[in-house]
Amino acid sequence: MGEILGVGLTHYPGLVVKDEQMCGALKKTLRDPGLPEQYRDPKSWPAQMQAEWSDDQGTAAATQHRKDLLEQFKTARAAIDDFKPDFVLIWGDDQYENFQEDCVPAFCVLAYDKHEAAPFHDLGFLGNNVWDLPVDTAFSFEGHKAGGKYLATGLLEQGFDVAYAYKPLHHGLGHAFLNAALFMDYDNQGSKWKHPLLPVQVNDYGRRVIAQKAGLPDLANPIPEGELDPPSPMPWRCFDLGAATARALKNSPWRVALVASSSWSHAFLTTKNHWIYPDVEADRRLYDALVAGDYQSWRNTPLDSLEESGQQELMNWFCLVGAMDELGRKPDEHDLIQTYIFNSSKCFAIFRP
Ligand SMILES: [Fe+2]
Repeated sequence: MGEILGVGLTHYPGLVVKDEQMCGALKKTLRDPGLPEQYRDPKSWPAQMQAEWSDDQGTAAATQHRKDLLEQFKTARAAIDDFKPDFVLIWGDDQYENFQEDCVPAFCVLAYDKHEAAPFHDLGFLGNNVWDLPVDTAFSFEGHKAGGKYLATGLLEQGFDVAYAYKPLHHGLGHAFLNAALFMDYDNQGSKWKHPLLPVQVNDYGRRVIAQKAGLPDLANPIPEGELDPPSPMPWRCFDLGAATARALKNSPWRVALVASSSWSHAFLTTKNHWIYPDVEADRRLYDALVAGDYQSWRNTPLDSLEESGQQELMNWFCLVGAMDELGRKPDEHDLIQTYIFNSSKCFAIFRP
């Protein structure tokens, strides 16, 4: 019989760059000519946002934000190490990395033998990596093909028509998966991460995955409604897929850590706050429901509500919450780190067996 550990965390790219660049997404939005003028003035922002921005454009707040996040990553790493998993399944989004115009599956089990990535070529406006590693630094992590084949079989047998792959299409390990492992081994830059990975891609970005390349919007040239892509899978479907994953793996021969990898509301995805800060109230409501074990509130959340709040990446957490509902678990440890200038709220949770 299999055994399961549940873990929720973030893959926030700000942790890859230096403090001065951590609020790079906000700085880029503030430079966007399409941003209405009044939102450029910090005096128009919420008080907490002004306090984080302070007189150094958020550099001191970045030091603190990094410290808070890394503390949580250490806890998550310890929980996974103590659990001694045979592999670590990660639900993550693909932001126009491996899946592009030629194929966008709703869900894809990445059942590779090995996962490789050279992420520092793509940092773009975020600048240099925090470790000052050479730009061509490559990462390589063991995969778990047998676990991937077993999972795809188990899901298909339960009526979940997932895709699977034995090798990458356009891109090695996407940042949602890479960063999860890298941040849990931050001080060693991933060199001491030894647990095999089984990434499962979820098309979180849906309507904006190709049209907006799952990235920051161009506010001066908004995408007409008719040019958006088909939607992501529905939140309830992600929830049910998570439950089916737990059922399949409970009957497997393996110990598996199930990890949801994503920040919650993203500033650059919500018009509610003019793309400059995330929907902290919407995150707080879902967090309270998570802590209370009120998982039906999660399952009943419509896609429109997630899209309006810029919570597309929460789809990864819907998979985890569905799995924990199936197992009858509530989070043993949890934290919601809220911020205004660093693009997104970050939630952490551990569900022990
Ligand atoms: Fe992401």
